[in-house]
Amino acid sequence: MTPFFQQLPKAELHLHIEGTLEPDFLLEKAKKHHIPLPFHSIEEIQNAYNFSNLQSFLNIYYQGMAVLKDEDDFSELAWRYFQKAHMQGVLHAEIFFDPQAHIERGISIATVMDGLCRAVERAKKELQLSIFLIPCFLRHLSEDSALDTFSQCLKFKKMITGFGLDSSEVGNPPSKFQKVFTQAKLQGFRITAHAGEEGPPSFIEDALNLLQAERIDHGVRCLEDEKITKRLVRKKIPLTVCPLSNLKLRVVNKLQEHPLRKMLDCGIIASINSDDPAYFGGYIADNFEACSIALNLTKNEAILAARNSFIGSFLDANSKAAYLQKLELYCSKNPG
Ligand code: ADE
Ligand code: ZN
Repeated sequence: MTPFFQQLPKAELHLHIEGTLEPDFLLEKAKKHHIPLPFHSIEEIQNAYNFSNLQSFLNIYYQGMAVLKDEDDFSELAWRYFQKAHMQGVLHAEIFFDPQAHIERGISIATVMDGLCRAVERAKKELQLSIFLIPCFLRHLSEDSALDTFSQCLKFKKMITGFGLDSSEVGNPPSKFQKVFTQAKLQGFRITAHAGEEGPPSFIEDALNLLQAERIDHGVRCLEDEKITKRLVRKKIPLTVCPLSNLKLRVVNKLQEHPLRKMLDCGIIASINSDDPAYFGGYIADNFEACSIALNLTKNEAILAARNSFIGSFLDANSKAAYLQKLELYCSKNPG
């Protein structure tokens, strides 16, 4: 890994903590809880990570997270990610998690939140990481289920920055979740939503219009619609782009065909993120490195993506300015 990308100060805005479940951790936790798995070695697990689309990944992802049962499991999982993120230049992380995927298996929201919050406190203290938590609603489930989950999350309001929307996009439009996001907005939460990953560009528009999303996760199909692209630029709506994820889930055929560079060129506030790094072959700096090779990203374009990560974050204006200053200082000390 090029030290420049590894140490480049950055924020990670699109990361599912359950997507950081590495094969060794999966085996360890399955053994701890006596959970039978269809795999017996790290190699067998890695061989199973060959996806044809988003749904083929989600099936394995939900199966994998079933080994997370108690507070320690969630805390260790998050702590492992925070250490890796710190090693890859992350100063601020806004992490997603899927409460419904745990509640459905009989794991309480308190177990999940207490475990995650323990790791967050440790990472703040020991790694000086700043971390925001963003529960996501699963779009393949009903809005009633999302509303019920939202009310359970309210007990932990102080620890939650905002709400997101993830899981199977095709067939589950943003309009299905208008009520729950209206409630979240009324309670002062920040809002983001996966849109335009596999779904059509109109889902990006719907997420903005109907869910009041301030940021779009993925959004890679936006360039198919000039009107939406122009709106994203004019209204400065950030996109959290995940290049290795798009490659693994066949949203693009080759990384060389990824639209990231075009997005940056036309003025979209696009950042580079890892999505589900344990499944997609790389953490955030690996995504920077892979893009710099495949797309011939210049150093300045990589710096722009890092700048966009702070600009597109849910941090307040003063914190954004302080992180951006750190980034500029790093760049002036490490000229291309
Ligand atoms: N959940 C975890 N990763 C996801 C992705 N890339 N798209 C939608 N839902 C997800
Ligand atoms: Zn995602």
